[in-house]
Amino acid sequence: MPLPPDLTRPSLVSAAQAPSLAEQADPQRLYERSVQCPEAEVDFLAATFHRLRGRDARHLREDFCGSAAVCCEWVRRHAGNTALGLDLDPAVLAWAAAHNLPALDADQRRRIRLCQTDVLTAPTDGGLDLVAAMNFSYWLFRERALLQAYFRSVHQALTADGVFFLDAYGGYDAFREIVEERTVEDDAGSFTYRWEQARYNPIDGSMDCHIHFAFADGSELRRAFSYRWRLWTLPEIRELLREAGFGHVVVYWQGWDEDGEPDGRFEPTEHADADAGWICYLSAEKG
Ligand SMILES: C[S@@+](CC[C@H](N)C(=O)[O-])C[C@H]1O[C@@H](n2cnc3c(N)ncnc32)[C@H](O)[C@@H]1O
Repeated sequence: MPLPPDLTRPSLVSAAQAPSLAEQADPQRLYERSVQCPEAEVDFLAATFHRLRGRDARHLREDFCGSAAVCCEWVRRHAGNTALGLDLDPAVLAWAAAHNLPALDADQRRRIRLCQTDVLTAPTDGGLDLVAAMNFSYWLFRERALLQAYFRSVHQALTADGVFFLDAYGGYDAFREIVEERTVEDDAGSFTYRWEQARYNPIDGSMDCHIHFAFADGSELRRAFSYRWRLWTLPEIRELLREAGFGHVVVYWQGWDEDGEPDGRFEPTEHADADAGWICYLSAEKG
């Protein structure tokens, strides 16, 4: 039986007025918390470049930079480091300018430049020690010719001993239409990150993926981020890198900790287990 109006109104009014956690959330912040760890990534980039080239890298380009989290971490690391971030989307670059650049000091900000451009048409005049393309963003190029054109342009943009770094994921679960989730702890309250592989076409390798977020009050941000990309395999990626002119291509694989979880330490290897799901880095050396 419905309650009299004077009893229902206050709770209805307050329910209508209180925005849900999903309504209050900033999707870009949730994305960073869920799938990025710029400190670990920059550790890997700097140490691996040094191991490969016997010198420190100073000039980084972050392709598909989004909120430029890696650029920001890079310029924090050393007073001689410079970073150039490229992204097609003006909204995400504006978010970076409003949220991430202000956390840098004036000198660090002077050494970072964000540019709204297609990575395929970015200037390729050399001079970069490193180009990084992370979180599988280059998979947005679904045709072989296009991915090869991108790899060639990166090769041209690098200095004579420059190195291109990228990541990849795979394993037999990567080809399945599934949803995986995990809890992410955040100062603003924990939330659930959901990765959905919504559609996979084995004929052309194309895949639709979505990122959803769910909150303690039951609210959800569905399809906060969506991608249509090609699920490239490591042999294809390595072949295309070599065809684009890269001399030495290395795959870095994670080991396991005592609890049977990936240990976050990526080491070069030519052989790996046929795991259900894996993430790896690649380096491709110019020259
Ligand atoms: C998956 S996000 C990557 C964000 C971040 N770099 C990371 O590692 O998580 C992909 C980004 O690539 C951008 N993007 C897509 N196609 C692009 C292109 N052709 N050139 C430059 N940026 C592009 C999108 O705007 C989006 O910000």
